[in-house]
Parts: sequence; structure tokens; C-alpha cells
Amino acid sequence: MRKFRTALVVVLVWSIVSAHFVSAQTRKQWQNAPDIERRIDTLLKQMSLEEKVGQLNQYSYGQPTGPTTGRSSVEESIRRGEIGSFLNVTDPVISNRLQRIAMEESRLKIPIIFGLDVIHGYRTIFPVPLALASTWDANLVERVSRIAAEEATSAGIRWTFSPMVDIARDPRWGRITEGAGEDPYLGSIMARSYVRGYQGEAFGAQSMAACAKHYVAYGAAEAGRDYNSVDMSERQLREVYLAPFKAAVDEGVATLMASFNTINGMPASANQFTLNQVLRREWNFRGFVVSDWGSVGELIPHGVANDLATATRKGFLAGVDMDMESNAYLRHLPNAIKAGQVSQAAIDEAVRRILRVKFALGLFDKPYVDEKNAITTLPAGNVMAAREAAEKSFVLLKNEAANGATGPVLPIRSGIGTVALIGPLADSQPDMLGTWSAKGKREDVITLRTALESRAKRDGFTLLYAKGTEIRGISDSGFAQAADVAAQADVVLLALGEDASWMNGEAASRAFIDLPGNQQQLLERIAAIGKPIALVLFSGRPLALTPVASRVHAILEAWSPGVQAGPALERIIFGDVAPAGRLTVTFPRSLGQVPIYHSMLNTGRPAVGLDLTRPPMDGSEKFKSRYIDEQNTPLYPFGFGVTYTNFEYSAPQVNVQQATVDELNSGRAQIRVTADVKNTGARAGEEVVQLYIGLRGTSVARPIRQLKNFRRIALGPGESRRVEFTIGRDELAIWQSDTKYEVEPAELTIWVASNAQAGTPTRVLLK
Ligand code: NOJ
Repeated sequence: MRKFRTALVVVLVWSIVSAHFVSAQTRKQWQNAPDIERRIDTLLKQMSLEEKVGQLNQYSYGQPTGPTTGRSSVEESIRRGEIGSFLNVTDPVISNRLQRIAMEESRLKIPIIFGLDVIHGYRTIFPVPLALASTWDANLVERVSRIAAEEATSAGIRWTFSPMVDIARDPRWGRITEGAGEDPYLGSIMARSYVRGYQGEAFGAQSMAACAKHYVAYGAAEAGRDYNSVDMSERQLREVYLAPFKAAVDEGVATLMASFNTINGMPASANQFTLNQVLRREWNFRGFVVSDWGSVGELIPHGVANDLATATRKGFLAGVDMDMESNAYLRHLPNAIKAGQVSQAAIDEAVRRILRVKFALGLFDKPYVDEKNAITTLPAGNVMAAREAAEKSFVLLKNEAANGATGPVLPIRSGIGTVALIGPLADSQPDMLGTWSAKGKREDVITLRTALESRAKRDGFTLLYAKGTEIRGISDSGFAQAADVAAQADVVLLALGEDASWMNGEAASRAFIDLPGNQQQLLERIAAIGKPIALVLFSGRPLALTPVASRVHAILEAWSPGVQAGPALERIIFGDVAPAGRLTVTFPRSLGQVPIYHSMLNTGRPAVGLDLTRPPMDGSEKFKSRYIDEQNTPLYPFGFGVTYTNFEYSAPQVNVQQATVDELNSGRAQIRVTADVKNTGARAGEEVVQLYIGLRGTSVARPIRQLKNFRRIALGPGESRRVEFTIGRDELAIWQSDTKYEVEPAELTIWVASNAQAGTPTRVLLK
């Protein structure tokens, strides 16, 4: 019996492992498919130079981006084979019409690939990516991306400019909302999920080519100002900023987008090191690279080219295969080849990469989309997925009892008499969609106000509403009514935050990260009334919440939640569902702490053991790595989030006190870590159990903590679970040079904790 059971377990484990391996292989099959390569060979032999360059050219449909001469029409351009791709065509009738010209009237009948920014949903809009990351739920993110792919492909879109896998540690940067946050490990997990979701197992008719962007280090823009320069060490680049891109490539991502910024003085869109050396030679990437919008042309203002011909040459030779909207390659590549500045072989290789993706998608065999099947209304199942994603993405940052009350403000108990809903985000449909909302419609959004109105009817409480002010308001004319409403209520829900279309996403950097307009004044006016207050915060970035947190009893970070904003929030607020999101970005106490993130170095003068809530009293307190007027710690750390119950962690247990570097490096040894996590409260809840490590005594300084794994677990009241992790080469290796990573002798500290500041350390010696 025992033998039989062992055999069963072996077979089971083997089938799981091999299924994973096989599917990873299936996902990458297109990259080395002999039949695809043969078909490309045949085509390349027939293509003229102009037709080849045409494949490297992408226009936005409807934009004034005329072809070469400026005289001919789009149709004429397609007929001549001058357009390899369009972005921003979302009407299947139009894409079919354009495709028909390519397939029936152009000489070689090469299909066009239609791309779009499908960032967090196509027709059904999900929470923004920063919110999706806050679910710490890789399967959910994969499912959501799959839905986006099904919807978008129904309209002929076979390429999305997503996922944005830029690590972002500066909340001033508006695009922090488009990524997974500050951590390379979590960012890599999320990158893989998006790629799997969009591309599917093997590109089928409902798959889109994914595009990992923005390659690379765009998120490290100096001072959080969009498009700004980046200067960083190779270590930082490789260990942090490149990591999620590597994960996407390993997962089989079909395309990458070169970014706008410079990296150590060299624009990313002309960067031989990142594009040719790292991406192509080291990682063996077989898909293609598209520029960002106009980023080849921007080599001129960057100062590395004085004209578009030079920009073309530099961008192309560095490895940017497709020119998005610079109108550069089409005009200048043919001459560069004729002048011998660019080789035929290099052109052929770029064309090959693009055709490879077109073949992989099956575009040659099935170039058209079925216009009748285009998804135009919201599929009910997808709406439910949007609600689930939103519910899981909210992060409860604070939840305390109001004066005199026994329990915390949230969830609102049944039997409540009057609820006041106040604030400019309570009923704003467009702001719920967030930045980049593809074919999402504001009318589809159910706001918090609408959801609460239904609930009030159902549960029999009174709902009072006042807008109070505009999001970026300056007038306080609505304050009195808001105060009046608050005064009548048993509990106040404040819906405050950012204006998603103006303040989040591209070109939306903020020099102040507090509540916009006069919302803080509104909040203070309401707080002065003395009622229990829960703040529902809508923002695309961490805000500096110190002056907010001291005045409210609860804060629920809701991000931009998507079409199901209201129902999801209402279910959390009334406790049908418990909050389960955790931060993937650090929330600072004040703007001056920015950039602040959990994996910082210790410095030579760490301010440990000091009371940083007051100014230094003497030299021994002052000459430390600290501020004289602010604490070092964040207001809410990475990984943080509370829920309607509490969890208790045991100290982590390890199976060895020491391990040898040789065994770790060769994969022969692994360290097993376990910790018991207990739900000590009276209701069920979900916890994200996080594994952090620190290394000391190494050849270079290492972060105090690094996230290396996590597990989401659900525990009933009083329930306890042992969580196990392994630590081996993947977790411990340190970048040495080029592609070399190694485990070094060190003192290893391990935490299993609920966030980056919690946990009891356990030590293991690496000899
Ligand atoms: C510019 C943005 O940086 C990029 O993320 C986007 O995909 C392109 N525009 C295309 O819209």
C-alpha cells in the first residue's frame, strides 16, 4: 500500500512538473519552428528592399502620419507594402478593410499586425495593473489578461502593448500605476502571468502577442519626471530593472518595446548594450522590438543624432526592429543600406523577427476577424471577474475603532442607521476606469454611490450623499452641505483621491503626492464633526498620507478599480468579503522620503535604535543616515495590508544551521524554511505570507531585505497553517559579471512575515 502510494505521488509530481515544462515549451515553440522559418526564407527571397523596410514600419491609424512621399493615401501605402503594422485600429470593419488591401492587393500578401494598448482589459475594464499586482494573485492576473485577449482579438487586435514591467519606486512618476510596483521578484511573477494570459499556451486565434515594456529602466526616471534620464549601476540594472523583462522573455514574450529614456547617457532606443548584448545575445530573445511612440526620432532631442537619417541608423543598428510613429525607417533605411551603413543581413534579420511573430499568430492563414463576433457589450462572466479582481486588489491600510466604539469602523455592521457618502470620487464613472481604458465605456461603471444606493434599499439604512468638492477643486462652496450630511450620519464614508485620466499614467508626474485640490480641507472639515470616518482612497500611486491618516479611522486603498468599482467596494465595506490586497509599493510618510522602497541598503551609518520621531539630540544621534525632521520608515511598508481578522506568525524554522556555497551553487543543497501562521481573530481571512532574505559578509553590499517568495493562504477563525519555502541558488545568487551569478559565503537572515518590516529573523551560515 505504502509503495503504491509513493508511486502515485511520484507519478503525480512528475506529471505536474512535466506539464509545466511541456507548456513552457509549447509557449515558446514558435520561436524555433522549422516550418515558420522556411516560410520566412521563401518570403524574404521575394521581397524588395522597400517591402522589407515596410515591414519595419508602424503607423497609428487616423494619425497624420503619411507614408514616404506624403502624397499617397494609406490604402496606396498598404498596397505598396509600406506598412507592417497599425496601432489604434479598434473597429474590425476597418481592420478587415485594411487587411484585405494587404492580402489581396499587395504583391506579397503579407498580413498587417494590429496593435493596441490593452493594458487592463479591452471592453471589460479591470483594476489598473498596480491594483492587480496588489492581489498578489498570479492566477488571477493570468485570467484577467486572458479575458482581455479574448475580447480584443474578437475585434482583430492581435498585439497588445502590455505588460508594463517597469520597476517603479517613485510615486511622483504617473506611470507607477501601469506596473506591478517596486519589487523585481513580484514584478517577474506578474510579468509571466500577463504573458501567459495574453499569449496563451500556443498562440491561438484568441491570443495576442504581448509586449514587455518599456525596455528598460524607464521607471527610474530621475525625480519621477516622465521621460527623464536614468543613470544606474549595471548591478542595479540587472538585478532590479532587467529582472522582470528576463522573466517575460523566459515565458516566451513575443515583443518588447524600447523606452524613451537614456540609460547612463545612451538612449534606450539606440542602446546596443541592452538590446543587442543583453536581450539578443545573453537571453536569446527571438521576437522583435518595437520603438516607443516616436522614440527613434527622439534620438535627435536626446542629442545623439542631428538628423532623422542618423537616428534611423542608430536605432536600427542597436536592435529596434520596428519604428512606431517616427516615420524614420521608411524614409531613411533604404538609403542607409544603399550607402552601406546598414547591411542587408541586418534588415533581413529584423524582417524575420517580425514575420516570425506574424506567422506564430497565424495571421497568414487567418488574416481577418469575424466582424459579427466582435465583442461589443460586456460579457456577464467577465464582469464577475472584474468584480473579483477589484475586491482582491483593495488594500486596507488602517482600520481602528472610533471614539467610544468597541470594534473597528469597517466593516460597517448591519443595522446601521445612516451612512453619509461624501467626496468627488463617490460617483465619478470615468475615474473608476483608470488610465488606458481601451474600449471601456464610462457608462459601464457602477460607482460606489450607485452600489450603496441599492444596498441601502436592500438593507434598510439611509444613505446621504454630498460631493463636497471637485477632485481638483478650489471652491469650498460644497463643504457646508457635506458637513451637514456628515453630522446626520452614524458613519461617514469619504471617497477622495486622484483624477485618473489627468493625474495617472503617461505624462502625469506630480511634484506633490497629497490629496489634490482642497480635498484635505474637506476632510478636515468633516473630521472635526467627530463621526467615525472610513476613507476610500482612489489613487494611481502611493500618496503621502500622514495628514490624512491622523484624521480618519480607516483607509481603504481602492486604486482605479474598473467597471465593478461600486459593487466590489460595497461588498468589502459591509464585510461580505474581507480585504485581501497587500501593497506592492511603499507608502511614504512624506514626499521628502521618496524614493523609498523596502530593499534598500543598510548604509555605513544605519539609524538603528534611535527615536526618529524627534530631532536628534546630539552628535551620536545626528550623524546617522536619517532626516532631522522625518522618520526613516514608511507610513505603510511594502507587503502591508490588514483585514478583518489578525494573523500571528511563529519564528521561521530552518532545517539546517549552515550550508556550503558549493552545494548551493550546484543545486545540491537547499534550505527549507517553515513558519506557522495562525488566524487569531473571529472571522476567516486571507494572508499573503512573505519570505524575505538578507545577506551580510558578501563581496558587495546587499539590500537589508529582499522578497524571494510568497504564498497566499486562507485561514478560518482560529486556524493555523504551516507554510514552507525553500531557499536555494535562485534566491541566493548575487550578480558577479555579465551573465554570471553566484552564491557567496555569507550570513543569511530569513524572515517569514506579513510585510517588509515585520517578522522574527532566523540565521543560517553560508560557508
Ligand atoms: C507611448 C507609451 O509610452 C507606450 O506605453 C504606449 O504603448 C505607446 N505610446 C503606444 O500607445
